[in-house]
Amino acid sequence: MSANDHTTAHEEAHTGPIKTPQQLLAAVFFSFVVPVFAIIGLVYYVASANKTAPGADDGAKVVAQRIQKIGTVEIRDANRPLKSGEEVYKQQCVTCHGSGAAGAPKFGDAGAWAPRIKTGFDTLWHSALKGKGAMGAQGGGDFEDVEIGKAVVYMTAAAGGKFAEPAAPAAAASAAK
Ligand code: HEC
Repeated sequence: MSANDHTTAHEEAHTGPIKTPQQLLAAVFFSFVVPVFAIIGLVYYVASANKTAPGADDGAKVVAQRIQKIGTVEIRDANRPLKSGEEVYKQQCVTCHGSGAAGAPKFGDAGAWAPRIKTGFDTLWHSALKGKGAMGAQGGGDFEDVEIGKAVVYMTAAAGGKFAEPAAPAAAASAAK
């Protein structure tokens, strides 16, 4: 009797909290099945995070943009034929000078241009390149400095100016040979 008691007590001490088959099933469920589903869920979440939504930009392009190196080189054709003053005027200057917007001396308005023409071509060219008053810098954009100069010649000529066209820069001149 006492030996039997001893065995029962001994077994009791080593069984731990799981005492019934239901508890064993629950323990197996929570320690193996639940983590497996949790991992599957995490994997699915991580994988789906990289998918682009329908209608979003081309995935490869977006990735290329994200991993591109900082700084880009813009290649412009330095040897393209220079635009004429009229072409430059029509593309870049007419918005203001065509109507006299923002107080710009109007195209063909000799009265508005005469005092400016007196200051000399270099002064006007410099103003156009670097900007003056309400006019932002016109240089450094799509056109070469010399093309902006030609536009100044074109505009002043329409208002009684007689400036010679600025010479093309040496680099362009030698490349043209
Ligand atoms: C955003 C409007 C705007 C555009 C675009 C613009 N201008 Fe002007 N421009 C002005 C205004 C305003 C003035 C008068 C500035 C002043 O005297 O304060 C002016 C003045 C000038 C002058 C006289 C500068 C001086 O020293 O008196 C020249 C030359 C000139 N522009 C050339 C150009 C050329 C060439 C282009 C095109 C490549 C151009 N502008 C484009 C607004 C513009």
